[in-house]
Amino acid sequence: MYTEIVMEHFNNPRNVGIIKEPTVLVQIGDPSCGDSLLMSLKIEKDRIADIKYKIYGCGAAVATSSIASEMVMGKSLDDALKVDEKVIADALGGLPPDKLHCSNLAAGAIRGAINEYRKAVLKGSVK
Ligand code: FES
Repeated sequence: MYTEIVMEHFNNPRNVGIIKEPTVLVQIGDPSCGDSLLMSLKIEKDRIADIKYKIYGCGAAVATSSIASEMVMGKSLDDALKVDEKVIADALGGLPPDKLHCSNLAAGAIRGAINEYRKAVLKGSVK
């Protein structure tokens, strides 16, 4: 059973869409279930100024993406990296055991996007 928080985010997912000129765009999928997440971030002064995503997946994947987007919005990149799988699942009041892996998509996309951004900064291709 899903918690009320999961159902609320599933029924009213926040920050859905794609940022027009994102700083970073990442796609991540789970081959075991076929679910897929496309996440775009606008990063300004080492903070997440905006985040939007498109998710193709189960109810838990939608809810975890939605709450994760709210949790990292406006945060510094270091603080956003603390929003991991467990933090996301806990914020939703927990997930059923067979749905715990669904929070991997959002957490993995956030980590992947920040890593991409930091690599690009090191290469000098992004300010
Ligand atoms: Fe694949 Fe939920 S079943 S992310």
